[in-house]
Amino acid sequence: MLKPENSTITIFGASGDLTHRKLIPALYHLFEANKLADDFAILGVSRTEFSDEEYREKLRQLLVKHEKTQPELVDEFFKHVYYQAVDTANAPDYEKIKTRLEELEYLHSTHGNVLYYLSTPPSLYGVIPECLAAHGLTKEGHGWKRLVVEKPFGYDLESAILLDAQIHNFFEEQQIYRIDHYLGKETVQNLLVLRFSNGLFEPLWNRNYIEYVEITGAEALGVEERGGYYDGSGAMRDMFQNHILQVLAMVAMESPAVINADSLRNEVAKVLQSLHPLNPETIEENLVLGQYTSSKVRGIEQAGYRQEKGVNPESRTETYMALRLQIDNWRWSGVPFYVRTGKRLPTRVTEIVIHFKRTPHPVFSQNAPENKLIIRVQPDEGIVMSFGLKQPGAGFKAQEVAMDFHYEDLGETTLLSGYERLLLDALNGDASLFTRSDAVQACWKFVQPILDYKAGLDAKLHGYACGTWGPKAADELMEKEGRAWRFPCKNLTNTDYCEL
Ligand code: BG6
Repeated sequence: MLKPENSTITIFGASGDLTHRKLIPALYHLFEANKLADDFAILGVSRTEFSDEEYREKLRQLLVKHEKTQPELVDEFFKHVYYQAVDTANAPDYEKIKTRLEELEYLHSTHGNVLYYLSTPPSLYGVIPECLAAHGLTKEGHGWKRLVVEKPFGYDLESAILLDAQIHNFFEEQQIYRIDHYLGKETVQNLLVLRFSNGLFEPLWNRNYIEYVEITGAEALGVEERGGYYDGSGAMRDMFQNHILQVLAMVAMESPAVINADSLRNEVAKVLQSLHPLNPETIEENLVLGQYTSSKVRGIEQAGYRQEKGVNPESRTETYMALRLQIDNWRWSGVPFYVRTGKRLPTRVTEIVIHFKRTPHPVFSQNAPENKLIIRVQPDEGIVMSFGLKQPGAGFKAQEVAMDFHYEDLGETTLLSGYERLLLDALNGDASLFTRSDAVQACWKFVQPILDYKAGLDAKLHGYACGTWGPKAADELMEKEGRAWRFPCKNLTNTDYCEL
């Protein structure tokens, strides 16, 4: 297997939550699986003063507490970790980073290769590239330089365009890796393999055979410690504009000519550019916004959103959204996509349900079973296909049966987490699973009318009790067209038992 070249992974925002929770565990697991370079350095950068040793100790404690680790390998891993305190907004301070990178190049033979990872507040995304450039740290003459940018990439269409221009002043597009960890999920990538490596599905994957598509991105957790950030963001910016639209692109895109970064991302951009623009006049018919209210869930009292730490007690930020959208192209014309995402729903589940059209002439019963393909992204990753078969006994009544595949049945295979996969790809210079500038802008362009609607005084915001499947209005969005959301359980196939 291809191993990355030696490099220094420089993490800005090194004392932040994402670094402890996701980045360091992902790098450790890659190290344990012998997937990182033969030699490498990880340089944490943030404002707080730590020595290398203090920083290592802090990370080590969190890693060992939350992850399954092997003590000898943990010791070995932390020999690669260093720290540099810097005022990230202050250009002269970057001299310290330059010196440190030179030292680490010597110690770990990194040949000048550097991956910069921006895990800071977004207000610094434009500043850091400029400061790096001022010290010649973005130039590729001596080793490659890559920039990984965390979401949110912009706050709306205008700020996304501006941020893009700011970063492009100092980095070429091929050096920029906009990360969306959903694209790193094995099961999201599997959508492409399922669709394009089987002769069975693709001929049916269009308006002639598909009645409608459902996409659910549900979370049982609330906003936890992130109330301050979330209140300025909401479900629309936090989940829909990026993760959910990327999943939708994988469901709806055309087949790429070949699997490489350009080809794949051309198709993603094309489908996102084909989203039917939302009309401010009719937006309310297609959009439902909700906010969770306090309730007892499985015997435990759960706070409403407005009572969460860091949240404005009069906040009108949505923690739930459901949207009916359409795609203007030959494949999808007339097929509605119903998409919903929210916090404090009954369970954590991400899945796609493809509802096929019924037979044109139902000979066996008026209510012939529906043909559905359920693609489960998480948890209990897998696929279920449902169709009708003869009910045993007299007559010819059809009943719905299901065929299922669960990833865990593949046995020993350990799936790489989204961050593991994407960090490895960035280190290998493969941008296929990173969002390109045109796709990001297409997403913001589509979402902008919703943001404008949200900002208006008349925007409707429905309450829903913690632990329920969102506001009633979201059910009506489907019901008025004679349809209903699927109620997914934690377990993919067991639809009789749900956590509620
Ligand atoms: C993050 C959002 O990007 O994705 C979070 O900021 C959300 O609010 C998370 O909880 C969901 O990711 P996953 O991988 O747990 O589905």
